[in-house]
Amino acid sequence: MSQIPEWTKSSWHSFPALQQPVWTDSGICVDTLKKLSNLPALVFAGETRMLKQQLAEVLEGKAFVLQAGDCSEDFSRCNGPRIHDLLKVILKMSIILAYAGEKKVIKIGRIAGQYAKPRSSDTETIAGMEIPSYRGDMVNSPEPTLEARMPDSRRILEGYFRAAATLNLVRAFTKGGYAALDKVRSWSEASFGSFPANRKYDELVSGIRKAISFTTAIGIDIKAPQLNETTLYTSHEALLLEYEEVMTRIDTTTGYWYDTSAHMIWVGDRTRQVDGAHVEFLRGVWNPLGVKIGPNHDIDNIKRLIQKLNPDNDPGRITLITRFGAEKIKSLLPNLLHEIKSEGFKVVWLCDPMHGNTYINKLYQKTRKYEDILQEIRSFWQLHEAAATIAGGVHLELTGDNVTECIGGNRQLLDKDLNLNYQTNCDPRLNAEQAVELAFEIAEILRSGGHTE
Ligand code: PEP
Ligand code: CO
Repeated sequence: MSQIPEWTKSSWHSFPALQQPVWTDSGICVDTLKKLSNLPALVFAGETRMLKQQLAEVLEGKAFVLQAGDCSEDFSRCNGPRIHDLLKVILKMSIILAYAGEKKVIKIGRIAGQYAKPRSSDTETIAGMEIPSYRGDMVNSPEPTLEARMPDSRRILEGYFRAAATLNLVRAFTKGGYAALDKVRSWSEASFGSFPANRKYDELVSGIRKAISFTTAIGIDIKAPQLNETTLYTSHEALLLEYEEVMTRIDTTTGYWYDTSAHMIWVGDRTRQVDGAHVEFLRGVWNPLGVKIGPNHDIDNIKRLIQKLNPDNDPGRITLITRFGAEKIKSLLPNLLHEIKSEGFKVVWLCDPMHGNTYINKLYQKTRKYEDILQEIRSFWQLHEAAATIAGGVHLELTGDNVTECIGGNRQLLDKDLNLNYQTNCDPRLNAEQAVELAFEIAEILRSGGHTE
């Protein structure tokens, strides 16, 4: 049963689907998908509805979105310490932002399923040999050999189980007491020592401690769930449509279809064709949806896309995530804001300051400058202020590890430093220190309503 006209969870098969792997053995694929169809949902539709309601609050200026995590999660790094470290950074950033912005911070991880990547080319040439491009751990393996790069559909099942394991730990940490507000100091990363952002964080922690002591002194019970539990929602790019289809289930409470692979799913800049398979699939599921918008967009197309994905103009359903780059945002965002606003579309606006600022440096490393990232965020706030629209939050690629993938930041990482600990298989991420530093900068922007320079 479907409430959406002419939609089924399989109807996308009749539309052109870009960026799909060609599995080497279709028999294995059928078998994998069958197994997956008998496995439980990863998330509960009630949680997904809750996220949508909270996103609707962003439209009223009552909440801020922090969406963050790996560009591409790596099976080999699905372990306790790494998940814990990422969670710590997200919790720290959210407390910094909540304190400055004085509003709720909705935390959404690029986590527990961010395993499939769109690529600009199907193949790459390494040491004179042409091999398939790496498409994320759910498809193939990053090692530069022909064998490793052959798409293997059994990896979809492995991705499901790793997503389940990740989500289990996330739930344990966020609901089991670790996220309690009186633990704010323990989220701090001892190994980074006394870098300025850490010192600022300690000051903030003292302020929160004082507030908690005061609250206790006047007899308010600090055991309330709001002070002891939090929620990290999950999200990923809904790229591998076979996986998303099989994870799409009827919610028995409402009778609607939900993609239960994550709470929020987004469509990438390369696969958001109005008449394409990804949009066809997404229009029928009730999850909140992200839409990435890069510099080469066509405004009429974006309008048609919004109408197709959200015909009832339901607030919280659509989040537009712009990723223009520090320079281009200045000329592109104002018109987009104006057009979307004049149509009366209810959308949440997020700034992805990562994907428009990626470049290859002179040492052939893919990197981003901390300064460009910060600059794009500043412009995003200023342009929203000028357009009288609401800047809803940020979408970031970062990790809890001490990697060296983006240059700049307080430690002034240079091109020559990137080799020290360059780990990503895909895009360069902010390390924990750069991420916390950036949260303090965003806090400043929030306090000043976009007027910082
Ligand atoms: C991403 O978010 O990792 C990504 C590939 O984004 P985009 O679709 O904006 O290029
Ligand atoms: Co990326």
